[in-house]
Amino acid sequence: MFLFKLIVSSLLPFFILLVVKLIHYKQTTHSSQEHKNPPPSPWKLPIIGNLHQLSGNQRSLSKLAKKHGPLMLLHLGSVPVLIASSADAAREILKNHEPMFLDRLASSNIRKITYNTKDVAFSPYGEYWRYAKRIVVHHLLSHKKVLSYQKVREEEVTLMMDIIKESYGSSVDFSELLISLTNNVFSRVALGRKFETKRVKKFIELSAMVTGLFRFEDYMPCLSWIDRLRGLDSTIEDHLKNVDEFLESVIEEHLRKKRRESENGKSCMADQEQLFIDVLLEHKEDENTTSFRFEKSDIKALLLDMFVAGTVQTFSTLEWTLSELVRNPKTMKKLQEEIREFAQGKSMVTEEDLSKLKYLNAVFKETLRLHPSPPLIPRELTHDLNLMGYDIKCGTKVFINTWAIGRDPTLWDEPEVFKPERFLNSPIDYFGAYFELIPFGAGRRICPGIQYSKAINEIALANLVYKFDFAPPNGEKPEDLDTTEGTGALIHRKNNLFLVPTSAFE
Ligand code: HEM
Repeated sequence: MFLFKLIVSSLLPFFILLVVKLIHYKQTTHSSQEHKNPPPSPWKLPIIGNLHQLSGNQRSLSKLAKKHGPLMLLHLGSVPVLIASSADAAREILKNHEPMFLDRLASSNIRKITYNTKDVAFSPYGEYWRYAKRIVVHHLLSHKKVLSYQKVREEEVTLMMDIIKESYGSSVDFSELLISLTNNVFSRVALGRKFETKRVKKFIELSAMVTGLFRFEDYMPCLSWIDRLRGLDSTIEDHLKNVDEFLESVIEEHLRKKRRESENGKSCMADQEQLFIDVLLEHKEDENTTSFRFEKSDIKALLLDMFVAGTVQTFSTLEWTLSELVRNPKTMKKLQEEIREFAQGKSMVTEEDLSKLKYLNAVFKETLRLHPSPPLIPRELTHDLNLMGYDIKCGTKVFINTWAIGRDPTLWDEPEVFKPERFLNSPIDYFGAYFELIPFGAGRRICPGIQYSKAINEIALANLVYKFDFAPPNGEKPEDLDTTEGTGALIHRKNNLFLVPTSAFE
């Protein structure tokens, strides 16, 4: 079997070239019949369309958009994909024509890991999505709920700082520390106790691996048998099995707890104190009070959705921020001066202090401008539409390239430079009203986790730079600090962030 796979994978490029050359594809006449005035497209090959021009990330899309314009139509195999790369195009899609772009694009890999889109993020727009989103907002992510997690955040930040203090002068894996922080906070507030970071890393591996994998099934269905020969399904299933076992054990643990409580005659907890997982389980059981009843797989999909966003996505912004600050010592110094002056003599910066720290706020906006994760917002068009003068067909997949918008030289002065000052006297924020900065999207499908991630990231960073100074390991120069991006739908650093912390007060 191994030999067979090896032969197939080595012959694959030749096979594709052969098919491409042999089959004459009347693409120009074909597309002009379909669209009266389609958006500009790069030249394409028969069968594979524009696939050969992509290295699978936002950078190659940005390069193509520079040539073909902010609204560009690609053909990935047989699938039309619209790429929006300007603030104006994003406004047209997310605001002016929002009702037609409320569906989510979900690849077959994504469908597999979301229990067939039964999460919130990839669920089609409709009753189930509305119902599930209301639950996650009300019971986990609302402003009131986020405020109620303050003590947990402060405790976990203190624990992280204690670990750092024990490592003064030596190289510390900050990626590991920061993901443990976001994992510990999320596990405690949503599930009632901490779970090992090692297990959470399974989610990272899974999401990075699955989202980064190309499948013929999605773009050239006639070649989907190659996916099976490459062993893709079994690789995904192996990972999914691990994650599923973990989610199953979390659910079982809570069901056992609930059974014990009812045997001991304990009454239901007040809504305020209920954990997110208990709320989900209640919606599974209670036939009378809800129009939907969650299946167990729906609960797993929602837990996984929240776990990935609450830990991985949140920690990624923190990791990029610390990287940029260490790489830009003047910016780090300015932030440290703001915080140290403000918090002078305090043992810790508290959440009450955060709203007064204007530079800190600008630093996060700048990170989210340069390193939005996800860099592409996926949507799907549900009607034929004339958009910015171009005819687009119903069913077209859409990516809004927030990474490209954040680096657009017509919007930003010195776009590649990390310069939080640009936000100090500017009204621009990231809550979906300013389309030049939409790291959380906009409109009805905007990210519901903004307050959650803001709260944890700000308190963690404020205390890190209050108490410690940082240097790159091995005497490296700050400007040489590695900032290579990883691949996949969420962009983390490719390599873990190692830094040498020292005390700021010794
Ligand atoms: C810095 C951290 C985060 C970033 C940059 C981010 C970014 C995004 C983006 C770009 C979208 C798509 C929005 C759209 O289509 O307009 C999204 C959706 C979503 N995010 Fe976040 N997110 C973050 C943190 C979180 C957290 C902490 C949670 C929950 C624990 C969360 C849960 C979700 C959900 C459920 C959706 C789907 C919303 C829907 O489709 O209606 N996110 N996020």
